[in-house]
Amino acid sequence: MVGKINGNFIGKDIISLDQFSPKDLKILFHHTLKMKKIASTASASKILSGNIVTLLFYEPSSRTFGSFSAAIKQLGGQTIEIINPQKFSSVAKGETFEDTIRVFEAYSDTIVLRHPQVGSAQKAADAAFFVPIISAGDGIGEHPTQALLDLYTIYEKFKRLDNLKFLFAGDILYGRTVHSLLRGLSLFKNNAVFLLSPKQLKLSRKDLEYFSKKINLIEIDKEKGVPKNADVWYWTRIQKERFGNKSLYLKVKNKYILTPKLVNKYAGRNTLIMHPLPRINEIEKDVDDDPRAVYLRSQIRNGMYVRMALLGLVLGKI
Ligand code: NCD
Repeated sequence: MVGKINGNFIGKDIISLDQFSPKDLKILFHHTLKMKKIASTASASKILSGNIVTLLFYEPSSRTFGSFSAAIKQLGGQTIEIINPQKFSSVAKGETFEDTIRVFEAYSDTIVLRHPQVGSAQKAADAAFFVPIISAGDGIGEHPTQALLDLYTIYEKFKRLDNLKFLFAGDILYGRTVHSLLRGLSLFKNNAVFLLSPKQLKLSRKDLEYFSKKINLIEIDKEKGVPKNADVWYWTRIQKERFGNKSLYLKVKNKYILTPKLVNKYAGRNTLIMHPLPRINEIEKDVDDDPRAVYLRSQIRNGMYVRMALLGLVLGKI
């Protein structure tokens, strides 16, 4: 069981959205707003001056890696960037995962880890004696910092995280961003989430049972089940790399494409259209110019601000 934040981020591993309370999110969002201002000034901040953060990424990444790296630099800290350690570190020689963690904790004040295995972030947290681990995604498990930026983006728009209606679409089974966001939304009252996915990519029955105790979930697999005027649409990529069965991937990959026609038919005037990215072909380019679509706008930028705030808090610098 991961430790709750309980109003104090200092030295805490960040593994799951289950660690957060609404009050913790409030603290984080308060600092996120400040970070937005810091990032917009030309002069470098010194908040993380003297700090070194290791970015240890066993899986490909653009936004998570780039925004963590930028966040640390915005705050005057430095990075050790290990991309693809399977090829470019002693992992290639057979070094164990635990030893790799022990090595990089000796050089840095925190380790940001992305890894293909569920539970790897917790495993790293168990191996590290001295520094916190921040998960940047553990296989099909969770992606807590993505959910934090998603929640911030929703909060920025609606000024609340309760009493909202959501449509999540795409890969609900393998999408770790979905799993963390559902945990985050479960912290607030009266949220309803419509889950649009092919039958084969529904939430696991165990997760469905777990989340249904906290939040109203409605599973659908046809476009005509899409509710009108949801507050948020959260589209996701079918997670190709998680499929053992490639023919199943080919069968489902083009099932739900977000088009201007779909937006016109079901979205409301204020519906926030989100996607954690990368998008492959599940959102038509014509949707990009719709002012309701934030996936190439505030949603990406907020990733850097939220991660700046999180690092400042975990390292006890703000
Ligand atoms: C997501 C991820 O890696 O889980 N991307 C991200 O971090 N923004 C989503 C995805 O890969 O589909």
